[in-house]
Amino acid sequence: MIPQSQKRYTHYFLIAFGEGFRYNEIADKLKKKKTLDEREKYMSILKNGTLWKDTNGDPIHAHGGYIIFHEGYYYWYGEDRREDFYVSCYRSENLVDWEFRRHVLTTRSATEGYRVRTNIQLRNVDGGKVNLERPKVLYNKKIKKFVMWVHFENGKDYLDAAVGIATCDSPDGDFVYHGHFNPYGYMSRDCTLFQDDDGTAYFISASRDNADLHVYRLTDDYMNVDTLVHRLWQGEYREAPAVVKIKEKYYMLSSFCTGWAPNQGKYAVADSMEGRWSTLTEIGDETTYRSQPAFILQKDGRVLYYGDRWDGEDYFNSSYVIYPLTEKDGKLTMEYADEIEI
Ligand code: GAL
Repeated sequence: MIPQSQKRYTHYFLIAFGEGFRYNEIADKLKKKKTLDEREKYMSILKNGTLWKDTNGDPIHAHGGYIIFHEGYYYWYGEDRREDFYVSCYRSENLVDWEFRRHVLTTRSATEGYRVRTNIQLRNVDGGKVNLERPKVLYNKKIKKFVMWVHFENGKDYLDAAVGIATCDSPDGDFVYHGHFNPYGYMSRDCTLFQDDDGTAYFISASRDNADLHVYRLTDDYMNVDTLVHRLWQGEYREAPAVVKIKEKYYMLSSFCTGWAPNQGKYAVADSMEGRWSTLTEIGDETTYRSQPAFILQKDGRVLYYGDRWDGEDYFNSSYVIYPLTEKDGKLTMEYADEIEI
């Protein structure tokens, strides 16, 4: 027979043991939760194809965009199709926590004619919005300005096929719009900018109803095209160009032309932007893992492909993806990823 005092002791022990067990269980749960939080917070994991939010908790509106690095910050520019907005700018130190900075180009932006451009409208004939797609921005040392190149359409149809230009003294200030034009009279649709290490910049855009892809070298101030360097891949209908330089070689990714629907990505390689470009090689799967190129960013030796996962039914449900690119012996591969750790 167990004496009463010992019984009580055993009872307490059992409670303590039980509590201890429960405590461990809770601690374990907390640990797991903490690990998950930490994973998301400190290991900076972005889930591809979900609605990424800015630091205010609002969805990031930066499609068809571009990221530049300037004085300690990454600046992400992209399409913002809401209300009177055209281009939004976000800022981040780590490529994960994005602080909304400004609607850098809107229907109300200041306009200022520029020598070689005549048309500076930021509203269509009905007073509605025009269409500004795929904004790209580079810093120009000569004029000490951030210069934006963006695909311009009148907001009603896709018949203008022009490029608009805007500038600003700071990366995230109010850009001043300088109008749009057709380079040398050519159509200019999906586009990108590329800045080489020596500061020479190139504008690449789809021409002849998307059949050919043009490469233009820009003037020193990035305010105009200087010369048409290439008319690439005649009749291949390449859109959404994005360029990256890896180990002294230039790689250009692009999509085929199927509107919002994703298709097979392809890339080409060249020894210089103005040199001879290879023919096109497939990359990713037949839908480029459900994405269309926006731009390519290099960080800490990694090559990151940023794509748009458009929702053709509901534009505002479109999301972003980042897939790592790997270069080996002049060949590029794209790695599928559900999530990416940055
Ligand atoms: C895509 C193009 C986008 C947008 C869309 C409109 O092919 O890459 O930038 O123009 O078509 O349908």
